[in-house]
Amino acid sequence: MGDREVSRSLSNLPGSAGQIRQRTDAGHWFEAIAEHTGAAYLRYSFTKGTTQEVDFLVDVLGLEPGMRVLDVGCGPGRHSNELARRGIRAHGVDISTRFVEVACEQGPATFERMDARALPFDGEFDAAISLCQGAFGLLSGDDAIVLEGMGRAVKPGGRIGVSAFSAYFQVRFLEDSTFDADLGVNHERTVVKDEAGNDAEFDLWTTCFTPRELRLLARQAGVEPQHVWSVGPGDYARREPTIESYEFFMVAERRN
Ligand SMILES: C[S@@+](CC[C@H](N)C(=O)[O-])C[C@H]1O[C@@H](n2cnc3c(N)ncnc32)[C@H](O)[C@@H]1O
Repeated sequence: MGDREVSRSLSNLPGSAGQIRQRTDAGHWFEAIAEHTGAAYLRYSFTKGTTQEVDFLVDVLGLEPGMRVLDVGCGPGRHSNELARRGIRAHGVDISTRFVEVACEQGPATFERMDARALPFDGEFDAAISLCQGAFGLLSGDDAIVLEGMGRAVKPGGRIGVSAFSAYFQVRFLEDSTFDADLGVNHERTVVKDEAGNDAEFDLWTTCFTPRELRLLARQAGVEPQHVWSVGPGDYARREPTIESYEFFMVAERRN
């Protein structure tokens, strides 16, 4: 399995619907993957484009030193820590205790364990991000809950940036997985390495989207979509959506 496939697989998180503004501690089965992978996550090549991705985030989200950014499903904190190194006050939240531990060891941002289905923030951040399926795209149809929480977390006029897998790409290049045409969820099994190089196999589910669905979901969640672009790991750019890229990046704004 190539690194790109592992990137996709690590992002395949099935989830159940939670109630908006109700804290849930039901856990998430991605925690087992994170427990196994630990800091080895940061060895996969799809994590090596973090600096370019953060350059892009700073540009399109209008980030400046001193601003506060919420990183939802931050994993081992690669974006939060890079933002914090640039003077931006990044706060990462993730359901995996193991990844929160790794994130704290890696750099200067702040982190806490939290379920993205129950974000408690209200107008505290200048921007919010959820990248590489950091919970958004993992909830098997209830992903608007994450967008809604992110929209509420930012100040009026604040922007949110989310990446999401492309349904077009997934179906075009379907190989060793099954795609649920009704739900738009791709299911596969994949092998992931731990820090000592030991393999373990996991079931993975990815919810995939079209740009139109992303815009509809944003409006359902109460934020106004501004852009949807085709992107890839370490290759974030203002690129019109195509069926050739396996990820989209959406920018949306909280109006009031
Ligand atoms: C593929 S990783 C992406 C991590 C990071 N955003 C990145 O770009 O490398 C997906 C992350 O989402 C987290 N996650 C999954 N479901 C979650 C939930 N309900 N609440 C918070 N985090 C969740 C996982 O623990 C994992 O760290």
